[in-house]
Amino acid sequence: MDGERSDGEKQEIGAKSMNSLEEKSLKPYIDNIIEDALAARHHLHRNPELSRQEEQTSRFVANTLTALSLDEVKTGVGGFGVIGILRGNQPGKVVALRADMDALPIHEDSHLEYRSTRNGVMHACGHDGHTATLLGTAATLSQLRDRIQGEVRFLFQPAEEIAEGAKAMCADGALEGVDRIFGLHGWPGLAVGRIGVRNGAIMASADNFEITIKGRGAHAAMPHKSIDPVIVAAHLVTALQTLVSRETSPTDSLVVSVTQINAGTANNIIPETAEMKGTVRCLTQSMREATPKNMERVVAGVCSALGAGYSFNYQFGTPVTVNAAEMSEMVAAVGSEVLGSENVVWLEAPSLGAEDFAIYLNQIPGAMFRLGVGENVTQLHTPTYNFGDDPVRVGIEMFTNLALRALE
Ligand code: NI
Repeated sequence: MDGERSDGEKQEIGAKSMNSLEEKSLKPYIDNIIEDALAARHHLHRNPELSRQEEQTSRFVANTLTALSLDEVKTGVGGFGVIGILRGNQPGKVVALRADMDALPIHEDSHLEYRSTRNGVMHACGHDGHTATLLGTAATLSQLRDRIQGEVRFLFQPAEEIAEGAKAMCADGALEGVDRIFGLHGWPGLAVGRIGVRNGAIMASADNFEITIKGRGAHAAMPHKSIDPVIVAAHLVTALQTLVSRETSPTDSLVVSVTQINAGTANNIIPETAEMKGTVRCLTQSMREATPKNMERVVAGVCSALGAGYSFNYQFGTPVTVNAAEMSEMVAAVGSEVLGSENVVWLEAPSLGAEDFAIYLNQIPGAMFRLGVGENVTQLHTPTYNFGDDPVRVGIEMFTNLALRALE
């Protein structure tokens, strides 16, 4: 079925059934490549590579794209990033689809036949599934050049887990000429065959801080001769939480987590210094800009009250992931047609996790959506997480239809 209908018939058939005809017509093309996409996922899952070390993954992706006879395959983009370019037979806009490729330093706890073969490294965030889905999408769309008006750009990004890959790929021109961009993330707790989407913020910003408290050391039996940085650190952990509980409106969101405290060398020595590190998550840029100043005010006040000095270092990391409303509406519309409207979940709240897809969305309109991997699947970043096979086809259906729609 390739949509040859008269205008009169189009009007009679109506949008809904026309699209289901189109969806049906994509099925044979996906059937042609789905086994390869699943085999790709298993291969990637077996051979996970950490951020900035995705050399073999990158080669595998480039070889797979080259075999599809795309118009261009670029390697070494922003590190081990790969870009595939597919031009349709008609001129038009450029839509980018993005998958991330890196794995995590976790030892897989699994009896899967295709479990990780590398000690202490696994695809615990499902980037094997994202990459296989995008390879499958490229394989599907490469059979559909006649229907493509413009260009589809496939971005295979390294180093997402350390929030460096998107920035590096953009610096190498990945978004040049791109009009809109879409990405997905496999989501445990959401059934296979469902997607979740949201207008505006869908993921939080992630920034880091380091505080060094400068006290005075002493024998632990003579605390009055010290300025004890451990006591200061204890007060500070508590005081910093008032930024969340007393200074942030209960209807807004802010996370300040002190995740590391290091001080001292022995039971009977009060140390000179204490170090604290942690992360801050926000859902708005204004909150993000205000928080470091507020934190430093609390740090300075507590240290001053207790007689200590300090250094305060704040590093801005990943911005808030903000979907353009028009683009999340498009994701939902395509989702309704491909999966049924009952399987499109409008998310009430964002996740306070972060995603460096935000970097692309800061530059061009687009949307990230959640792809259901199963209601009983274990959480992301755990040793038993597995993206699974079934979501791959759903992801390919979504990406393929989205690309065609975005170029219309
Ligand atoms: Ni991830």
